[in-house]
Amino acid sequence: MLSQAFGEMRDAVFAKVAQRAIRRVGLDTFKHLHALSLRFHLDRQTGGLSRAIERGTKGIEFLLQFMLFNVLPTLLEIALVCGILWNLYSIEYAAITFVTIIGYIVFTIVLTEWRTKYRREMNDRDSEATTKAVDSLLNYETVKYFGNELHEASRFDHALQAYEKAAVRSQVSLSALNVGQGTIIAIGLIAVMSMTAQGVADGSMTVGDLVLVNTFLIQLYMPLNFLGFVYRQIRQSLTDMEQMFSLLRVEREVADTEGAPPLAVNGGEVTFDAVDFGYDSRRPILHGVSFTIPAGKTLAVVGSSGAGKSTLSRLLYRFYDVTSGAIRIDGQDIRAVSQASLRKIIGIVPQDTVLFNDTIYYNILYGRPDATPAEVEEAARLARIHDFILSLPDGYQSKVGERGLKLSGGEKQRVAIARVILKRARLLIFDEATSALDTKTEKQIQESLDQVSEDRTTLIIAHRLSTVIGADEILVLDKGEVAERGSHAELLAQNGRYARMWQQQLSDLADDAGPSPSLSPSTV
Ligand SMILES: Nc1ncnc2c1ncn2[C@@H]1O[C@H](COP(=O)(O)OP(=O)(O)O)[C@@H](O)[C@H]1O
Ligand SMILES: [Mg+2]
Repeated sequence: MLSQAFGEMRDAVFAKVAQRAIRRVGLDTFKHLHALSLRFHLDRQTGGLSRAIERGTKGIEFLLQFMLFNVLPTLLEIALVCGILWNLYSIEYAAITFVTIIGYIVFTIVLTEWRTKYRREMNDRDSEATTKAVDSLLNYETVKYFGNELHEASRFDHALQAYEKAAVRSQVSLSALNVGQGTIIAIGLIAVMSMTAQGVADGSMTVGDLVLVNTFLIQLYMPLNFLGFVYRQIRQSLTDMEQMFSLLRVEREVADTEGAPPLAVNGGEVTFDAVDFGYDSRRPILHGVSFTIPAGKTLAVVGSSGAGKSTLSRLLYRFYDVTSGAIRIDGQDIRAVSQASLRKIIGIVPQDTVLFNDTIYYNILYGRPDATPAEVEEAARLARIHDFILSLPDGYQSKVGERGLKLSGGEKQRVAIARVILKRARLLIFDEATSALDTKTEKQIQESLDQVSEDRTTLIIAHRLSTVIGADEILVLDKGEVAERGSHAELLAQNGRYARMWQQQLSDLADDAGPSPSLSPSTV
């Protein structure tokens, strides 16, 4: 009774240690993932990643539970039994027992190492299957658009099949291991028992001795078998944890330099100084881009799709480091200051807004979590989304769905604008922030944005030229190079690329508006 009670007590007391360790490693991994670069996250496979963490934390629990409190006592037990056998009888008994145990251990280790590849294979296939399932579910709509349910099912089944195969191999090799272990123990047992039986036969030992040796050996081999099981499990746990710990070893691509000071903002002048950049060294994207946005002024960047406009905003936010040249804010190279202080002063409405699967209120509040409800509402009003929100049955408490998919593109953009307004950043970046809105709503928001960006340094990336007329300077970006620059009037006067784009957009609008040719730029 006591032996059971103490065992349970040990597990109960130890649970806190194990659970705390799991929590800490889980949290560290989570934090580390958030510290990794955008590049890592664009390449990651969400399903596989979450499985790796799940397996890793389970592995830790197992490891802690068995390692300390089961392996050590068992080893002690083995040493004691060998000692007793040697003491009571002769060294041969102890020697045979010892050799058996060594054989058993060596066999177990060798075979388990060999089996590890099957377990690893199993884990890889498991991650692959989960990645496929998650990716497929995320693309639910696309699957339906193309009627490819069967294709998806067979892709998933393919991954499951591979897992099945690996799992069966793993089980078969485990059985082989068990049989081998049993054989070694049986041989050891037979050897010692026949020696004892010989002793009884020639009268040097009593039947009592036979029973005693038998009892000791059984006492010994039971924990030994257990040890084999534990070793196997530990090896398996370590294999399971591999992927998680290899995640922890992924280097941060964009890291703060040692003791980087916070950015000292004064005005917020942004300078791009001969910036070259490519996501991949084989394909440069930006070539010698230079410009300055004086404190409080607005710079607009226009250009065809793929010219590198959004890349400018990602570089300014330091998702990537420039290949050569430098980006400075108020004279400080952004690589020399801490990322947290840099990102704190920049408010960005990205080209594709993704929302959290929570309420609209939560998503706007995300801009500044300590804002009051009145401030949230004010931001929503400025972003021209307040009335829409009130028209929803649940108002601000409406859920937006996974990645915000229950909202239309324009509604999502306005939520994104509202939360940036709430952030009250010194520096604003709007990356085609109103591209999904109709011209009328866009014009209304434009007024709010002008008001919000009044005395803040602003970078506007636009494809509709009507939104950039008021900018202090306009850059025309073409294939990563600045092709033209100047104010709206200057660029029209140059009669170059910008003027052609302007004419093009005017005639598109005129086509949309029907035969009435009376459109002038001011009504756009
Ligand atoms: N993460 C990335 N990895 C590799 N290439 C990228 C990545 N993001 C964008 N690109 C490429 O860089 C070029 C410029 O992209 P971007 O700045 O988004 O263009 P845009 O001017 O339309 O905003 C595009 O040709 C795009 O294919
Ligand atoms: Mg873009």
